[in-house]
Amino acid sequence: MGECYYTDPSTEIYLGNASDVLRSLPADSVNVVVTSPPYFGLRSYEGNQEVIWNGDGSCEHLWETTITVDKPTLGETSALRRGSTVSKIAKAVEVKGLYHTCSKCGAVKCSFGHESSSDEYVSRTIEILREIRRVLRPDGVVWWNIDDTYVTSQRSGGKPRDLCLVPFKIAHLAQYDGWFIRSIVIWEKVNPMPESLHGWYWEKHKKRIKGKTEYVDCPGCDRCNPNNGYVLKRGSWRPTEGHEYILMMTKSGKYYGDAEPIREPLSDSSIERAKYGWYGDTESPYYHQLGHLDTLGQRFSINGRNIRSIWRFPTESSRLSHYAAFPKELPRRCILSSISQKGYCPKCGAPWARIIEKGNVIACSKSSKYEDRDYGGNQGYYGDGEYVGITYRDIKSIGWRPTCKCGIDETKTGVVLDPFVGTGTTLVVAKELGLRSIGIDISEKYCEMSKERVEGISLPMKLW
Ligand SMILES: C[S@@+](CC[C@H](N)C(=O)[O-])C[C@H]1O[C@@H](n2cnc3c(N)ncnc32)[C@H](O)[C@@H]1O
Ligand SMILES: [Zn+2]
Ligand SMILES: [Zn+2]
Ligand SMILES: [Zn+2]
Repeated sequence: MGECYYTDPSTEIYLGNASDVLRSLPADSVNVVVTSPPYFGLRSYEGNQEVIWNGDGSCEHLWETTITVDKPTLGETSALRRGSTVSKIAKAVEVKGLYHTCSKCGAVKCSFGHESSSDEYVSRTIEILREIRRVLRPDGVVWWNIDDTYVTSQRSGGKPRDLCLVPFKIAHLAQYDGWFIRSIVIWEKVNPMPESLHGWYWEKHKKRIKGKTEYVDCPGCDRCNPNNGYVLKRGSWRPTEGHEYILMMTKSGKYYGDAEPIREPLSDSSIERAKYGWYGDTESPYYHQLGHLDTLGQRFSINGRNIRSIWRFPTESSRLSHYAAFPKELPRRCILSSISQKGYCPKCGAPWARIIEKGNVIACSKSSKYEDRDYGGNQGYYGDGEYVGITYRDIKSIGWRPTCKCGIDETKTGVVLDPFVGTGTTLVVAKELGLRSIGIDISEKYCEMSKERVEGISLPMKLW
């Protein structure tokens, strides 16, 4: 089932296979999941991570072994074969993964991420998501960080260079499996891995000097002679990968959310635009329309705009020897928007929600019913598509109320889960926010790393 590796009043870390540990956790006990599982075919992690799945538990397995190869983390496989500088770096991190199948019951034994095809990886993901659905409260939210990968020539099945579409297959199948896909956030990496990518081009034929790394102009050969000394390079160009995905998934259409803690700054231009059509003058013939506009729901907070579905922050290079740690900003956003900062009913577990007070109208754009549409941009529309103005209000969060009728004044703190905890970034952020958290990792080294990082935070800073 996995052993409890570490526990303190706010944090639990389990050493074991995520699916097994999840099965041992109580149902409906988690408020938000933030995680980044091992991606398909990308890299190997410390220690033996092989797990048996999809088989007959009573079978005495007879394993047949094949080898899957990790995708080099830099450059495409063609570069690897050409022996360029890129390939040398790539080779340095290339690791072979073992893949075993039982000839008796069809069970598979391999590390998560080392399946024989992306489809197999996706089905395994769906199985883990089922375990997560059981422990997640009905009003909880899952944030699943996932990257895509290309079919490589080493891998059986698929067309080399074709995108696997892993995030989309997961979203698609998870939806069939009952999940609500609420958003596919694009995490734009400010500092992505460079990739060597070229299109088709002619180039002066060069030849390598024997035993050296330098190249010189070819004196002439069958390949370049017919082309004035040029050779044609047919690269398979594409844009450099500069993003990953974060799937936001829920168990139903009714789940807890809080826009307030992660608002983005309003752009100066949208405030200016609204002020341009300012209704603040009570003598204005438009002033009476304010109530009307309010009922249309075109109200915007002057405290900032709602967070967009494109998130931009750099990957954090960490001193910790782990390839793929989150930047702290990623779990911070996911947690803050999906957890009640006030807490939860100790009896039924329902979240407390903010009491919002609509303050004064700070700015309001005009309605084109009365004015020419002489500026574009951030307007609102209603019903039949008629244009209305939008109001910016000073929206104040003045307190909290329970969302259940249990009538209990105390609250318990929310619980964050990361089933692939790695270096423990999610746990660290949760602890800094004064929340309870559970982390799982199959590698003892990473459990230890998470523990050390969590212990490093002396006191949970109560931010509310
Ligand atoms: C991408 S890393 C997570 C990085 C993490 N978000 C961080 O900030 O450090 C994926 C982690 O999943 C772990 N892992 C792999 N297979 C697992 C399994 N079956 N159960 C639990 N953890 C597993 C690996 O050891 C690795 O630490
Ligand atoms: Zn078997
Ligand atoms: Zn030549
Ligand atoms: Zn209650």
